[in-house]
Amino acid sequence: MYEQHFGFAELPFSLTPDTALFLNQNSHREALNTILVALKHCEGFIKIVGEVGTGKTMLSRILLARLQQGYVTAYIPNPFLSPDELKFFVAQEVGAQFDKDMASHELMSALYRRLVQLCRQGRQVVLIIDEAQAMPRDTVECLRLLTNLETEKRKLLQIVLLGQPELDTLLSRPDLRQLKQRIVFSEYLKPLSRRATSEYIDHRLSASSRGEPLYFGPSAKALVYRASGGIPRLINILCHKALICAYGRGDQRLRLWHVARAVSDTPEAKRLPYLFATIAGAGAFSPRREALG
Ligand SMILES: Nc1ncnc2c1ncn2[C@@H]1O[C@H](COP(=O)(O)OP(=O)(O)O)[C@@H](O)[C@H]1O
Ligand SMILES: [Mg+2]
Repeated sequence: MYEQHFGFAELPFSLTPDTALFLNQNSHREALNTILVALKHCEGFIKIVGEVGTGKTMLSRILLARLQQGYVTAYIPNPFLSPDELKFFVAQEVGAQFDKDMASHELMSALYRRLVQLCRQGRQVVLIIDEAQAMPRDTVECLRLLTNLETEKRKLLQIVLLGQPELDTLLSRPDLRQLKQRIVFSEYLKPLSRRATSEYIDHRLSASSRGEPLYFGPSAKALVYRASGGIPRLINILCHKALICAYGRGDQRLRLWHVARAVSDTPEAKRLPYLFATIAGAGAFSPRREALG
């Protein structure tokens, strides 16, 4: 696409949560620190809540990369599982000896034996659950029972829940209050501030550029911030479309106008009244047409 035109080694605003592009700042840094500290010292659940696109999956991947020595990790990207499916999944991930025909209680014993074994080896088991708001109620309850597995000294399993704000709604059900009480640490992933949005754009541009990073004007960045509300996924979408627009016109620098066109092509972006004046007369924007034309 436009990589060659702008001298990028890779697409700077791809939507895949690539840990090489992680920007450790603001609310992401706080959340990561909270999780790491909590895993060292606490025995309960850890909960991270964030709106769609704020970086929960990115954070899970960073966590998986950080928890190497001394940890055994299991990552559940989609926890829409029955209680038994959850137990089988965890058993498999931690290397328990089990077979598919085992009754639920046998499976639980097999899991317990393996967790005790790992504990004796000095290894801590962490279960990371992404999209936790999608868990069925009974599966949430099963999670709580899993964390009841313990030795006299410590819990054998720690759980990090990451989810959209609906996770709070799920956990405020009266019949799940026991689990809610066990959440010792929690954090909210906030959208990026105006300054952090600018750093985020610079960080991605310089990490993906072969040479001197592309010039991205301050008013263009300010508009990305206002239209995205600082949500990383929206920032990526807007910047990607703005780059397509600049590429389509053969421009070498990113300006307000390119971003304005990207905003007009992105229904999820916040429309700002003055924007329409900026792009008035410019015709309808189609990134694909711009790229080709
Ligand atoms: N701290 C960050 N540093 C770099 N990129 C990030 C960061 N947080 C989010 N992103 C990017 O924003 C996009 C959305 O993040 P994602 O983790 O998929 O959000 P969520 O899971 O909360 O919906 C991804 O492309 C991801 O790479
Ligand atoms: Mg996600």
